[in-house]
Amino acid sequence: MASKWQQKKNRQAEAALERELQAGGNSADKVKDQCSDAALGKGEEQHYEKKLTKEEKKALAKAKRDAKKKEKGGKKSGKSKKVEEEKKDDDAAGALGKLSISGVDPNSEEGKREAALEELSRQEIVVTYEQKKGQLHANTRDINVSGVSVAFHGKLLVEETDVVINYGNRYGFIGPNGSGKSTVMKAIAARSIPIPSALDIYFLDSEYPARDDITALEAVMQSNDEVALLEGKALKLNDAMAEADEDEQAEIQEALEDIYDRLDQLDAATAESRATTILYGLGFTKAMMQYKTCEFSGGWRMRVSLARALFIEPEFLLLDEPTNHLDMDAVLWLEDFLSGWKKILFFVCHSQDFMNSVCTHIVRLDMTYKKLRYYSGNYDTYVQTRRDQDMVQIRQYEAEQRDIAEIKDFIARFGHGTVKMVRQAQAREKLLQKKLEAGLTPMPEVDPAWDWSFPDAGQLPVPVLSIENVSFNYPGGQELYSKVDFGVDLQTRVALVGPNGAGMFVECLIWVTTLVSHQVFRSGKTTLIKLMTGDLNPTKGQVKKNMHLKISRFTQHFEEKLDLTMTPLDYFKQKLMPEEPIEKIRPLLGRYGCTGDQQQQVMGQLSAGQKARIVFAIIAHERPHLLLLDEPTNPLDMESIDALARCLNKFKGGVLMISHDMRLISQCAQEIYICDHKKVTKYRGDIMDFKLHSRKENNKKLAQHLNG
Ligand SMILES: Nc1ncnc2c1ncn2[C@@H]1O[C@H](COP(=O)(O)OP(=O)(O)OP(=O)(O)O)[C@@H](O)[C@H]1O
Ligand SMILES: [Mg+2]
Repeated sequence: MASKWQQKKNRQAEAALERELQAGGNSADKVKDQCSDAALGKGEEQHYEKKLTKEEKKALAKAKRDAKKKEKGGKKSGKSKKVEEEKKDDDAAGALGKLSISGVDPNSEEGKREAALEELSRQEIVVTYEQKKGQLHANTRDINVSGVSVAFHGKLLVEETDVVINYGNRYGFIGPNGSGKSTVMKAIAARSIPIPSALDIYFLDSEYPARDDITALEAVMQSNDEVALLEGKALKLNDAMAEADEDEQAEIQEALEDIYDRLDQLDAATAESRATTILYGLGFTKAMMQYKTCEFSGGWRMRVSLARALFIEPEFLLLDEPTNHLDMDAVLWLEDFLSGWKKILFFVCHSQDFMNSVCTHIVRLDMTYKKLRYYSGNYDTYVQTRRDQDMVQIRQYEAEQRDIAEIKDFIARFGHGTVKMVRQAQAREKLLQKKLEAGLTPMPEVDPAWDWSFPDAGQLPVPVLSIENVSFNYPGGQELYSKVDFGVDLQTRVALVGPNGAGMFVECLIWVTTLVSHQVFRSGKTTLIKLMTGDLNPTKGQVKKNMHLKISRFTQHFEEKLDLTMTPLDYFKQKLMPEEPIEKIRPLLGRYGCTGDQQQQVMGQLSAGQKARIVFAIIAHERPHLLLLDEPTNPLDMESIDALARCLNKFKGGVLMISHDMRLISQCAQEIYICDHKKVTKYRGDIMDFKLHSRKENNKKLAQHLNG
């Protein structure tokens, strides 16, 4: 059965022939000549190629190969045959090398690579690896590079480690904040280590540009230019097929099938519906899809980039914290989508739940030893495997250390004794030397357990903060909240959830387009928090606050709380604790994983997670009664999330969080409130029930969308 793309091409070829015949004259003669050539067997591949099914093409290529072999039959010397075969390899490699499924022109691919490498060196990222003999096999789709070291601004992040990434696997890339995950991903994406050219890479680390000439939907579908390039590649591969031997032929065939499948996927007839489905899943309404990308905030343009990545379906997809800009519904949709990813997925994420659903493997950046460690299975399996491996390693370490201590003790006691004992001591010394040379088992890296305690700000009489009969709309927009009653006190442990509903979006849009362009689209949850803090005033009703109430907020733009030109130490000393000696500030920052070096590093040079940790140190210093946390786990590593959860549970004040991190919510939230339909209502169930419920609802909505 011919692929849809082939059928379509057949129809186009027939129509073109028809047109040429109708045009008569020269073109008719040309067609006649072509027909007679074809009848004579000349150039039949050009005439019939696109009309053949895959099986027919396979048979044709084999026949051509056999014919060529026969033609050349036994004439070559061993040497020339080898040269010929090498050439064939090169041709096939060349053709396959150009087989990037993204369909980017080989020259520009090379150009892009050069630019990416230049950008790496501009950013002072230096990558070295062990050169292997021979070339990468043209059609290999696995990555296996040894001795990889990556340095950033002269600081080694990984040293002499193996990068092993196999096709078909979905890797969750984890490691402490600041260990170098983003940098390593950048280095891989720039192809600074040998990556088979058959793998096209899409690295999502930045948002789609704000443009006034392209809509969100068009931005996603832009990748359709790929069709022409892929068609060219298919032709080249068909040529290479004729020259290839049997093994290569199978590989080329496989590559060709990928191209045909991809062309089917890119078929314009289905492209739009695929693009809208992806955008819809990521939270775009039909109306939003038609807005220019400049009308979206950075977070939404990040979603556009993500949608493009999913639409393009590269062979090797690298995502740096893809869930950061998403609400829970979109996260759930993405989780389902990526769980079915058949190619290579390599992503950084700090959500245990998400990784459990998506990952087939975990890669951990071991910051202590600067190595990448590989674990098969999802996150929970990784935790178990690592625990078991660490136990074995600790036992081995202890046994070795015991042995060494015994040997040293023997040498110390008998090294100057009788001749016999001295000899024995010398033998043991040699043994010790051997052991040391062979390398001793190190202690496994221990995950830190930070102390992020929030000091008690004292009690306040109720009501601490109440929202009474509050309605709200952005200027010019429709009502976002209507007659809401809601309150918090120092016992509050609430997680606010809810979709970024279409209605809300349109209301914000009106506000945005009428008043401020390029504004941040606000979800209802963040708006509620702003009403509570007084950053926004209700249009009706009132927000009552105890006059002594101190509130601290962690926002999605948490960096704004910092002065990025200062070091953490100077910031605390000069701005927050001028009375305290430096000796007191250092251990305080240390509790947030901010090491001696980082304490004296300008904050602009810290990783996202490292900055977020400093923000939590500042929040603790503020000593609030109430914590309002908007997606606090986004930048945090697992140990930091656990530290936060532990300390929130011990905190004597109130906590209201917006989060899609099940690990945090299930540990800390006692109640779930939903912001939807202009109300804030209590959900009767726990967060896992809510997740199941949301998934069901999402699937229903998606089915409705697909059915028009
Ligand atoms: N401009 C810079 N100069 C020097 N060091 C820098 C600079 N920018 C970042 N770093 C350091 O490089 C290291 C690696 O940062 P990277 O962002 O790759 O870490 P990460 O593992 O992705 O962290 P996170 O989990 O917080 O995203 C960090 O220790 C950081 O402090
Ligand atoms: Mg990072």
